[in-house]
Amino acid sequence: MADLSSVYCGLLLKNPLIASASPLTAELASAKQLQSAGAGAVVLPSLFEESVRSDESLLNRYADKIKSYKDALDIPVIASLNGVTEGGWLDHAKYLEEAGSDAIELNIYYIAASVRESSDQIERRYIDLVYKLRAQIGVPIAVKLTHQFSSIAHLVKRLEDTGVNGVVMFNRFYLPDIDVETMSVTPSLQLSNSSESLLRIRWIGLLRDQVKLSMAATGGMHSLDDVLKTLLVGADAIQLCSVLFEKGIDELTRLRDQLEHWLDKKGYDGVESIKGLMSYGKVKDPSGFERANYLQVLEENS
Ligand SMILES: Cc1cc2nc3c(=O)[nH]c(=O)nc-3n(C[C@H](O)[C@H](O)[C@H](O)COP(=O)(O)O)c2cc1C
Repeated sequence: MADLSSVYCGLLLKNPLIASASPLTAELASAKQLQSAGAGAVVLPSLFEESVRSDESLLNRYADKIKSYKDALDIPVIASLNGVTEGGWLDHAKYLEEAGSDAIELNIYYIAASVRESSDQIERRYIDLVYKLRAQIGVPIAVKLTHQFSSIAHLVKRLEDTGVNGVVMFNRFYLPDIDVETMSVTPSLQLSNSSESLLRIRWIGLLRDQVKLSMAATGGMHSLDDVLKTLLVGADAIQLCSVLFEKGIDELTRLRDQLEHWLDKKGYDGVESIKGLMSYGKVKDPSGFERANYLQVLEENS
């Protein structure tokens, strides 16, 4: 039988399917269900600095949660942090590390809405923050990114240079909607579908041969095909969220079993042997992805 294990951010996952940060991982009971269903790891919902400011006990409760998950589960438990101030990011990250989290995912949720701030300033802010966190935190760090950057590839390389262990691509933002009856702005969140996976597949495929850090996909991972394509272009982990809300936690088991079946049927030893087989650098004809950009990157790096 194929070996499903995958190394992600230095953590050995028994398979690459991770339950991403959401209310599904918020309680020990559902985290246990996710583990029983076969999750390779769980990411807790983010701890928001603003929420801690309005209720300081939240930080302790989050840390207690990490401890209880660590006692009850044998899969990696990844904390997720969403800070505002530099001090908040640093203090809270330290706290989550001390509570025993196996890794920390940085949910940097920042809308670049000001006409005064350039893309370079924004990216520099990310890098400075991650650099400082890296210097103080010993456990693996993954940075969860949005795709709304001018140069994702360059940013990921700069993040790698800070020493972080991985990137999670790409978060989906809540979008404001307008209620025309009440003339008010309301946040809206729609679950994803498989079509959104292609954006992740493209970027993971483009980056796989240019960076060494771990890459996890989040967003639009619903079917066996989504999982396979994302591994084939070079992902180390696949984060699942919408599909579990839509179809239930048991869908994780089905996806894992289908992955194993596919690997066996094709005669592959395991997940590690298919990772990156179809990255931009490996496929015979990458023109199907984005020929001009691809050739330019290759020439620049040869
Ligand atoms: C109800 C809900 C709550 C979420 N909460 C968080 C969160 O606290 N932190 C975070 O980084 N992502 C959060 N996410 C984003 C998911 O972890 C995931 O990255 C995103 O939904 C894309 O994956 P999907 O297409 O499989 O849903 C949340 C998503 C949903 C639907």
